[in-house]
Amino acid sequence: MLKDALKNKSATIGIVGLGYVGLPLAIAFAQANFKVVGFDVQAKKVDAVNKGNSYIVDVTDKALREMTSKKNLIATTDLKALSKVNAICVCVPTPFTRSKNPDLSYVIQTAKDISKILQPGQLVVLESTTYPGTTREVMLPILMESGLKAEKDFFLAFSPERVDPGNKKFNFHNTPKVVGGYGKKSTDLAFQLYSAITDKVVPVSSLEIAELTKLLENVFRNVNIALVNEMALLCEKMGLSIWEVIDAAATKPFGYMPFYPGPGVGGHCIPKDPYYLEAKAREYDFHTRFIELAAGVNEQMPAYTASRIVEEMSRRGLTLKESKILVLGVSFKKDIEDSRESPSMKLIESLMTKNGAVAYNDPRVPEIKIGAATLKSVAITAKKLAAYDCIVIATDHSDYDYQSIIDNGKFVFDTRGVTRRYKKTGDNVVMLGESTNSQV
Ligand SMILES: NC(=O)c1ccc[n+]([C@@H]2O[C@H](COP(=O)([O-])OP(=O)(O)OC[C@H]3O[C@@H](n4cnc5c(N)ncnc54)[C@H](O)[C@@H]3O)[C@@H](O)[C@H]2O)c1
Repeated sequence: MLKDALKNKSATIGIVGLGYVGLPLAIAFAQANFKVVGFDVQAKKVDAVNKGNSYIVDVTDKALREMTSKKNLIATTDLKALSKVNAICVCVPTPFTRSKNPDLSYVIQTAKDISKILQPGQLVVLESTTYPGTTREVMLPILMESGLKAEKDFFLAFSPERVDPGNKKFNFHNTPKVVGGYGKKSTDLAFQLYSAITDKVVPVSSLEIAELTKLLENVFRNVNIALVNEMALLCEKMGLSIWEVIDAAATKPFGYMPFYPGPGVGGHCIPKDPYYLEAKAREYDFHTRFIELAAGVNEQMPAYTASRIVEEMSRRGLTLKESKILVLGVSFKKDIEDSRESPSMKLIESLMTKNGAVAYNDPRVPEIKIGAATLKSVAITAKKLAAYDCIVIATDHSDYDYQSIIDNGKFVFDTRGVTRRYKKTGDNVVMLGESTNSQV
């Protein structure tokens, strides 16, 4: 029985997609003493895993090597290996198309692949973030092409991933995991599966509840970030500091949670999820107006930030054409290497489109592509900082020496409010969300 095998850890777990979500999940199961088979279509990633070379910030080489040398984790590009596992967790990308419609091609391909090897008794869990109905309406019919019946021959569940890359406090063990099954047996099995690596598993009544739970969590972030971005713009007009307002509001011990403004939102979830929900809502003649508005506010932030930088430069007699700009940080949030959908990249693109000569530094991202151009991260020293006309703090990595940036930068535009905690002697620092009215 699968339930017993999950309880006594004799079950083998398959992970499809060894990316930001899949690799840490594979390690978590391997560390819990399951035999884990990681399947990915990228041979490069499979090789790296088997050699113990991690490419994900939250997985150390040491942790990976411990698991591969014990043979608790084996990676493969051979789909057939999944026919021997007891449970399969699917962690493939769910991007959107150029016109911002859900792109389920990876989920569909994976369902087709699994359908070819699906065995009686197997549990399949989709973890990729997606709209309610994906597991039942998209995955299930493809899996049933195997000839097996859900809840009778195989089991199907959705369990949203809650990985927060770079978060040192919350991990698989102390972040509760929501599971919703196609039927009761599927929910019970998914509950048992994740109980092995998570302190608290939260069963819900359906696949769709589990799917929408994830979207609610991410849309909540998107909406609240949009709210503070709008407040930041207002503060600029009113000559107030959004940062001081947020810090003061955050002293309220109940009913308030601080969110911070910035040059926009990025990553593989927050900017994308409103559109997944919107697409599904349209099927019900329903427009998620509030959510779309928030997405729009956040999407304007990179271009808005670029225009604020140009404005502040011009107040200092600097023109974009004749100035050298250095952007610090291109990952979508601090202390990680993921630059997908990063607002920093959009900000750089916006400045370059206006003919700005832009260089960047990011200790974790050695190279970026902006349109047809390839930029390489430049080194930063006190002397080099002083050579730029404008330094933009786009991502507030913890390891930047902000005092040195303030002391050596001719003009610093801080989009993250990080310099508010440092000593400033002159007026060479401007923060997004603060007054534009001061005379330079
Ligand atoms: N990155 C995050 O912080 C995060 C957090 C929560 C949820 N999610 C969600 O989790 C899902 C995965 O995101 P990610 O960031 O891990 O993506 P990723 O791009 O880092 O990893 C996905 C992996 O899947 C592989 N893949 C693609 N098609 C495949 C196929 N047919 N068979 C096997 N492997 C295949 C890719 O090669 C890649 O290694 C997405 O739906 C995302 O929205 C991501």
